Amino acid sequence: MLPKINPTQTAAWKALTAHFAQNDFELRTLFQYNPERFNQFSVQRKDYLFDYSKNLIDSRTFDLLQDLAEECEVKSAIEKMFSGDKINETEGRAVLHTALRDFSDKEILVDGENIKPGIKRVLNQMKTFSEKIISGEHKGFSGKEITDIVNIGIGGSDLGPVMVCSALKHFKTRLDVHFVSNVDGNHIAEVLKDLNPETTLFIIASKTFTTQETMTNAASAKDWFFKSGTQQDVEKHFVALSTNTEAVKKFGIAEENIFEFWDWVGGRYSLWSAIGLSIVLFIGYENFEQLLKGANETDIHFKTADFRENVPVIMALTGIWYRNFFDAGTYAILPYSQYLDRFPAYLQQGDMESNGKCVDRNGHFVEYETGPIIWGEPGTNGQHAFYQLIHQGTELIPADFIAYVESCNVVSDHQEKLLANFFAQTEALAFGKTEEEARADLEKSGFSAEEVKRLTNYKVFHGNTPTNSIFFNELTPFSLGQLIALYEHKIFVQGVIWNIFSFDQFGVELGKVLAGKILAQLENTEKIESHDSSTNGLMNYYKEKK
Ligand code: F6P
Repeated sequence: MLPKINPTQTAAWKALTAHFAQNDFELRTLFQYNPERFNQFSVQRKDYLFDYSKNLIDSRTFDLLQDLAEECEVKSAIEKMFSGDKINETEGRAVLHTALRDFSDKEILVDGENIKPGIKRVLNQMKTFSEKIISGEHKGFSGKEITDIVNIGIGGSDLGPVMVCSALKHFKTRLDVHFVSNVDGNHIAEVLKDLNPETTLFIIASKTFTTQETMTNAASAKDWFFKSGTQQDVEKHFVALSTNTEAVKKFGIAEENIFEFWDWVGGRYSLWSAIGLSIVLFIGYENFEQLLKGANETDIHFKTADFRENVPVIMALTGIWYRNFFDAGTYAILPYSQYLDRFPAYLQQGDMESNGKCVDRNGHFVEYETGPIIWGEPGTNGQHAFYQLIHQGTELIPADFIAYVESCNVVSDHQEKLLANFFAQTEALAFGKTEEEARADLEKSGFSAEEVKRLTNYKVFHGNTPTNSIFFNELTPFSLGQLIALYEHKIFVQGVIWNIFSFDQFGVELGKVLAGKILAQLENTEKIESHDSSTNGLMNYYKEKK
């Protein structure tokens, strides 16, 4: 069980409150008076540099945040997660996605049973299966090789594989992979439009095998398939990834086509499990194993590094500093890599479904803020869309900038230009442009005194926007695994300190239940009067129009 400490009652929180009130945290001043700032506030590891010097912190802030982690017993919480304690208390489950990428011989027990052999067995099953599909040994019902994979899943059974497949396109096998998640029929219709049932393999990915969207899409996929294939052919074209073997069999998928995983793998932490089958098919098993090994490298760092050098811990602590002391309601993820185009969306689920909670581990409503809104887009596209608001708006928006030294594709001078923007933006956000500088620039450009007066304020950049820069050497399966795990552990540490349960997601239930009831009411022609006037009005409008 995790500790149940109200963070606001710790000595560190109180000291941080006083420290916040007494200081300005001006990055210009902090850099000016501390030439060692970059060395002091950065961590260099073999595969990446983590620069957190452009944060609104000084040495005292850093020390107090470290004290907060200590008082909230983060160290023992980490040990509990890794050793299989049932820290997901509200669901009575262990949290062991880290075991999925632990290739050591160490046993990990859940309810007295070592889970390692099961993990190995499913990995071998994924390896053997993927090799048969990629090599063309496995043939579809008409004797042709499989060319296209369609993963049907949603949330954690979709976002992780979508993000990884997009990020690792460069490592692609001969197979094309497609994803269907939305219950909107347009999604599956568009995906199937160009596919041939003879050469398509469907992966039905659902931990529970009850999710409405996935079950609906899976049924439509089968209907589409049955236009050419028969029930007998299903075994060559449908596999399932699930913890619910009975429901899968009922759907018509044979036991040998089920890739199992377990209730100690949370949906949004499941890409490392059988849920990663689409990734394995897309980039090959060896690359998938590298992804797992990269994540494991971060796990070891997280477990063993001193908190003062511990990247996910520092990411978590600075995030708490902005959320709870600066009242920053959002956090931007800005990858300077087109390959990471789905990374912000992936982290939205990872972070917001984990830490978007308002009841603490004692069952009381919290009186402090918890998880922020996570959002973002790849740079440089974001620069031409929403950076205006970050630079000159009224919100404080902390951000992570992620980039790679090497590009996977050397195309003239694109990489230098991309990185020039990566460096420039964090500098501009940190130091801005003062009124004097704005005025001097206008004068230098030849504006009249009157124009200078009129325009100066519009040209001021407030600066002092905090950023982390995570600068990897190159984008590989290994380094992507490292990156994803950094965020998983950041989220974990924040949840521990906020004293919330990060591994349940009851917040998705209410809408699901209501949608079920409403669906039944849409099937008849009766006028709707049982809801509020707005919902009645909307439903009746639909009934009239359809
Ligand atoms: O959105 C709620 C949720 O339970 C997620 O946590 C999960 O990733 C998703 O639905 C899909 O669930 P399943 O894999 O059981 O279909």
